[in-house]
Amino acid sequence: MVGSYAADLAAIREAHQRIRSVIHRTPVQTCQQLSQFASADVYFKCEHLQKVGAFKYRGASNVVLSLSDQQAAAGVVTHSSGNHAQALALAARQRGIPAHIVMPSNAPLVKQEAVAGYGAQVVLCEPTLEAREETAQQVVAETGATFIHPYNHPGIIAGQGTVALELFEQVPGLDVIIAPLGGGGLLSGIAIAAKSINPDVRIVGAEPAGADDAFRSKQAGEFIPQTAPNTIADGLLTSLGDLTWPVVRDLVDEIVVVDDQQIAEAMKRMMERAKMVVEPSGATSYAAAVQMEFDTPQTRVACVVSGGNISLSRISELIAAC
Ligand SMILES: Cc1ncc(COP(=O)(O)O)c(C=O)c1O
Repeated sequence: MVGSYAADLAAIREAHQRIRSVIHRTPVQTCQQLSQFASADVYFKCEHLQKVGAFKYRGASNVVLSLSDQQAAAGVVTHSSGNHAQALALAARQRGIPAHIVMPSNAPLVKQEAVAGYGAQVVLCEPTLEAREETAQQVVAETGATFIHPYNHPGIIAGQGTVALELFEQVPGLDVIIAPLGGGGLLSGIAIAAKSINPDVRIVGAEPAGADDAFRSKQAGEFIPQTAPNTIADGLLTSLGDLTWPVVRDLVDEIVVVDDQQIAEAMKRMMERAKMVVEPSGATSYAAAVQMEFDTPQTRVACVVSGGNISLSRISELIAAC
């Protein structure tokens, strides 16, 4: 029996009903060589092929589609320079409502342009967390828009959990699910869904060594926030939130920590062998699978490939050192 958390299986199933016509049901891909290298039977859940190139579109569209007409009319706001920003911008455009995305003034122009390209209004602020939060609150005060947190939000967690519902349909007899872990929205949603459907499935979070707050928190038995994160996996820099930590504490069996070299090597293998264009955050799940030891090579392991938003020049920089 799964306890009481920010979302439950019913909420995740409802989210799936709500979003299934607007998201891609992403494929599951296999590659014999990548399985052999991990000594397991590996199934890649290809969320790099999701709309906007990351699973984030699931949670964002779930929340945007859950707003009442009155709430929706005032629009949505978030602070993010990553995949959540693009996901929220597109979800808002699909519903025909305004989106305000607060970004640090040093966010790369390509990211600002991508968000603006989805029709959102980019609001620049000083590159500090305080400035981002304050600016987002100002936008809320001025416009009445609804603030949508990238991971510490029940509707976001429920939306991300739909990855697990699809995985169970696509891969019978799954033994292990590995998902990248930043703020824990993705992993929490997956853990709640998976443990509710089959408590025997092992749930693993993959974290970079330079942002391993979940690993340290689980060891200590209390939440230890991340300070000064440093990793190439730029989607995984964040700390857990008060909604995601209890799920990670109780329902996640293990956190596997991988360093930047292992992440870059995983990216390279995934690109060369399986033709998957994957960003560093998205490759951490497979990097963790390579590091883990499984009972037999027949162990069925799902690796969530969470995103693929990376430029070709950055890819060549990262894999040059492998
Ligand atoms: C590609 C990718 N993978 C994983 C994550 C981590 O997601 P969460 O913060 O829900 O743990 C992110 C977050 O931005 C991401 O962009």
